[in-house]
Amino acid sequence: MHRDVEKVLYTEVALKERIAELGRRMTVDYQGKNPVFIGVLKGSFMFMADLMRTIDLPCEVEFMAVSSYGNKSETTGAVRITQDLDMDIENRHAIIVEDILDSGLTLNYLINYLNGRKPASIEICTLLDKPERRRAQVSPKYTGFTIPDAFVVGYGLDFAQRYRNLPYIGILKPEVYQ
Ligand code: IMP
Repeated sequence: MHRDVEKVLYTEVALKERIAELGRRMTVDYQGKNPVFIGVLKGSFMFMADLMRTIDLPCEVEFMAVSSYGNKSETTGAVRITQDLDMDIENRHAIIVEDILDSGLTLNYLINYLNGRKPASIEICTLLDKPERRRAQVSPKYTGFTIPDAFVVGYGLDFAQRYRNLPYIGILKPEVYQ
């Protein structure tokens, strides 16, 4: 375990098993719908890569990038799109793939923004959900794990751009970010 990590929440094996379950559900739900999976960079890159390997359907993969916390562990509430979609999603079934749902401000903004493109449907798949800190009403259709209010890193999630490469999800020691 990395020395800045206090506790491992989900091991590689636990993540793999849960993601396979989500993939199986989506494979059933999106049969014949040719969905577009939209990953929110950077945090979702690892989750998206593993989730895609569990989806047994014709589908497309896209990425968008939004501004995140910078070096702080609290959201500012300001969301900025730094990389937009390359494709037209009008009349398409879209699934936003996110690493973690915290205040909900990012996904609330993205849902409204993407709804403006007139998709046939739009749903959220988040690996982690931290409901205690919610400030905007967002309802993910697919959630990997609901977690307590702690700052987590690894498996794509960062603090100050670090720890994304850890293969597990762990709670960061508070002294690292305080
Ligand atoms: P929200 O807009 O507050 O829901 O924030 C979502 C974004 O905040 C995520 O995509 C992450 O980039 C970041 N974030 C929220 N909580 C954590 C955490 O515990 N660890 C790492 N990043 C986090």
